[in-house]
Amino acid sequence: MIQIKNNVFLLKNENISYMFRVTKDGNLEHLHFGAPVEIDDEDAFAVRYGVGWGSTGGPEGEEFPMYLPMEWSSLGRGDYRESPMELDQEIPAAFKYTSYKEYDHTVAIECGLPQAHGDAETLEIIMTSPSQMSLHLFYTLFDTAVTRRAVFRNETRRSINVEKMMSSMMDIQGDYEITTYNGAWIAEMQPYRAKVGMSGIVNESTTGFSSALHNPGFILSEPDATETDGVVMGFNLIYSGNHYSRVQRSNEGLIRIVQGISPVSFDWLLGPGKQFETPEAVMVWSASGFGGMSENMHRFINEHIIPQYWHNRERPVLYNDWEGCMFDFTESKLISLAKKAKELGCELFVLDDGWFGERNSDKAGLGDYNVNKKKLPNGLSGLQKKLGDLGLDFGLWFEPEAVNPDSDLFRKHPDWAIQSDDGVTVLGRNELLLDLSLPEVRDYIVENVSRCIDEGKVSYVKWDMNRHSTALGASAHRYILGLYDVLRRIFGPRPEVLLESCSSGGNRFDLGMLCFSPQIWASDNTDAVERCRIQYQLSYLYPLSTIGAHVSAAPHSQTLRDTPLSTRGNISFFGLLGYEFDLADLTPVETDEIKNQIAFYKKYRNLFQFGSFRRLKAAEGISMQVSGDGTAVAGLFHELVHAAPGYERLYPRGLDPKKVYSVLSRRQLLNATKFGGLLRHVLPIRVKPDGAVVRTAGKIYRMNDAVRECDATGAALMSGMSLNARFMGTGYDPSMRMQGDFSSNIYVITTEET
Ligand code: GLA
Repeated sequence: MIQIKNNVFLLKNENISYMFRVTKDGNLEHLHFGAPVEIDDEDAFAVRYGVGWGSTGGPEGEEFPMYLPMEWSSLGRGDYRESPMELDQEIPAAFKYTSYKEYDHTVAIECGLPQAHGDAETLEIIMTSPSQMSLHLFYTLFDTAVTRRAVFRNETRRSINVEKMMSSMMDIQGDYEITTYNGAWIAEMQPYRAKVGMSGIVNESTTGFSSALHNPGFILSEPDATETDGVVMGFNLIYSGNHYSRVQRSNEGLIRIVQGISPVSFDWLLGPGKQFETPEAVMVWSASGFGGMSENMHRFINEHIIPQYWHNRERPVLYNDWEGCMFDFTESKLISLAKKAKELGCELFVLDDGWFGERNSDKAGLGDYNVNKKKLPNGLSGLQKKLGDLGLDFGLWFEPEAVNPDSDLFRKHPDWAIQSDDGVTVLGRNELLLDLSLPEVRDYIVENVSRCIDEGKVSYVKWDMNRHSTALGASAHRYILGLYDVLRRIFGPRPEVLLESCSSGGNRFDLGMLCFSPQIWASDNTDAVERCRIQYQLSYLYPLSTIGAHVSAAPHSQTLRDTPLSTRGNISFFGLLGYEFDLADLTPVETDEIKNQIAFYKKYRNLFQFGSFRRLKAAEGISMQVSGDGTAVAGLFHELVHAAPGYERLYPRGLDPKKVYSVLSRRQLLNATKFGGLLRHVLPIRVKPDGAVVRTAGKIYRMNDAVRECDATGAALMSGMSLNARFMGTGYDPSMRMQGDFSSNIYVITTEET
C-alpha cells in the first residue's frame, strides 16, 4: 500500500515499510525503513535538530541539509556527506521536490537493464532543478523488499556529462556493522565484518563485472544481532557490472548508504532530451536477525528476480564432464559416461568446454561455434539423439563473450575484440573480451548460440565468462547493456532452456545475471569442505535454488583433500546437486552411495531448492536446515575430528513445539578401506592395509554409518537432539559416526500430525 498525507509518503505492507517526507524547502527527508508503521507516526521518526550544530550549511534561509537524514542529496547545497550524483563541473546537480506519481505495478526500465518483476506498487518522486533537469526516484514495494532506482533526464538543450549516478541514497540512524563478501577465483564469499564508522566503508568492483573480489550484496546488522534476533538489513544491486556501495557514519550518528554503478572510469554523455537510468537497488529488513533477513531476501529473489518460467520449478540433477574429461573426449567416451550418469540417477548430461572449433586447450578456438567433428562426428544433434535414447537431457557450455586470438573469429574480426589503446595485447586465460557494445558482435553471438541450442535440442546452457577487464573504462556500462540484450534475445524466446551462469566460478554471482539465469555456478573450487563455506556464506544473500554445487573427485584436484563421498554429497544437497568427475572408476560401493544420494535429493529436492532455509547453531562445524510442509532436513558438517570427542547435539529450528516428530539419519555407506589395517581387529583373518583383501572389501563391503532414530516433540528437538557418538578408536558400532575428518550427517525430521 502507498499512503500520502501532508507531504509524507509511506510504502507499507505486512512485512516492511519505508517512509519519507518533503521538507518545507523541497528536500526529501528520510524517516523510516523497517517495521510496518502508520503514516501518522511521522513525528516519532523526524529528527529534531533544534538550532543546529553551529556551522550551518545550505542555501540562505533554508534548513540544514548538512544534518538531515535525506533520500537524495545535491552537491553544492551544504551537505558535506557523499553525494549520489555528479555532473559536468559547471552544472550543479541540485534538485527540489516537484510532484509524484503512483503505479499499482513495477515501472519498466527502458534502457534494457533487468529488473525485479511480479506483484508490486511503485511511487515515483519527481524532482527538478532550475537548470532544466529532472530526477525521478522510483520506490517499488514488494512483499519482502523495497527497491529503489533513479532516472536523470536532461531537458536542457546541450549534452551533459554524467560522471556519477547512484541508484539510491538513504540516511538511517542507529549503530550498525557492515558485512561484505570478498574473495578471488576459487576463494569466493569471504565475509568481512566491521563497525560502520566515520571513515566509511566502500564495497566496490572495478573489474568490469560484479566480481568475486567484492560481491555487490552486503549486510548491515545491529552489533548484537544473532541468527534469530536483532535488526538486520540486506542490500544488493540488480546489476552485473562495476558496482559501488558506501556506508559512512556522520557526526550526528546518521549512516549514509549509497548504492549504484561504480563511478570509477564512469562517464556518460547524455544528449538533450535523453535520460540515464540506473540499476535497481534492493533492500530487505528484518528484526529476526540474519536468518530473518536472508529468508526475506531468498523469497524476494525466488519470486521477483528468477525468470518466471523457473519460479518453483525443480532443477535437474546433472552430470558435467569438465572435471572428468577437460578437453579430452570423444563421443563414445561421453556416451559411456552418460550411461553411468543415467544409472546413478542423473537427469541431464552437460558437455562443457572443448566441443567446438580447435578448442583442444584454453589457448585456441574460443569464438568458433562450429562443432569439432573429430570429437563429435555426429554433431550436436547426433550426440543429443544418443543422450535422448538413454533418457538424458542435453546441456551445453558456451563462453560467448570472449575470443582466443588463435581463432577464426579473431582472424576475421580482430576489431571485435576489446584491446588496450597502447596496442599491447593483454590476455586473461588466453582470451580477449568481445565488444558487446557493437551490434554486429551481439548479432554474431545471438545467431551462433541460438543455432547451437536449436540444433542440439539443448535444454540447459552453461554461460561462462572467464575474462575480466579493467580496460573497459567508460564503456563498461555499455558492455553490460549489450550483454543483457544478448541474453534477452537468446533466452527470451526459449524460456524453458535452463541457464546457469558462470564466470570462472562465482565471479559474477549477482542479481543482474539471476534475472536471466535461475542458477549460478558457485565456485570453481569444488573441494566439498571449502565450497561448504562458500555455500554457507552465499546463503546470507542468495537462495539455495541459485547455487550450483557439484560433487567432485577425491583426493581433490585443488586441495588434495580426501573428503568422504557421503560428505561430498551432503554438502551439494544444500545447493543444486550435480556430479563432476570421471565416473569410470566408481566402485560398486561408491555407485550405491551415489544412487542413494541422488534418490534422497530427488525425494527432498523441492525442500532443498525452495524450502525455507535456516542456519543452525552448532558447537563446531556448520549446520543448516531446509524445511516446509511438516518436514525438515538438517545437515551437520564437521572438519577435523578430535580424539575423545564430547557429546554433541543437533539444534533444528522452526518445528512446531507441540507436535511429535520422527528423526531419521540419511543412510550413508562407509568404505571399508578407510579402516586399512584396523580391519584386522574385526576380521577373523590377518590382512595387509593395502592388500587385496582390504581393497576388495572396500569395493564391495557396505558399512552403515551413524544410524540415528528418535521420536520426540518439536520442543524437545529444538532444545537439542543428542547425536550418536563419533568414532573413538574403541571398535565399530553401526550407530557411530565413523567417517573421521570432514564427516557429516543429514537428518530428516518429519511429523504426521497436521
Ligand atoms: C571455467 C569454468 C569451469 C569450466 C571451465 C572450462 O573455468 O568456471 O567450470 O567450465 O571454464 O574451460
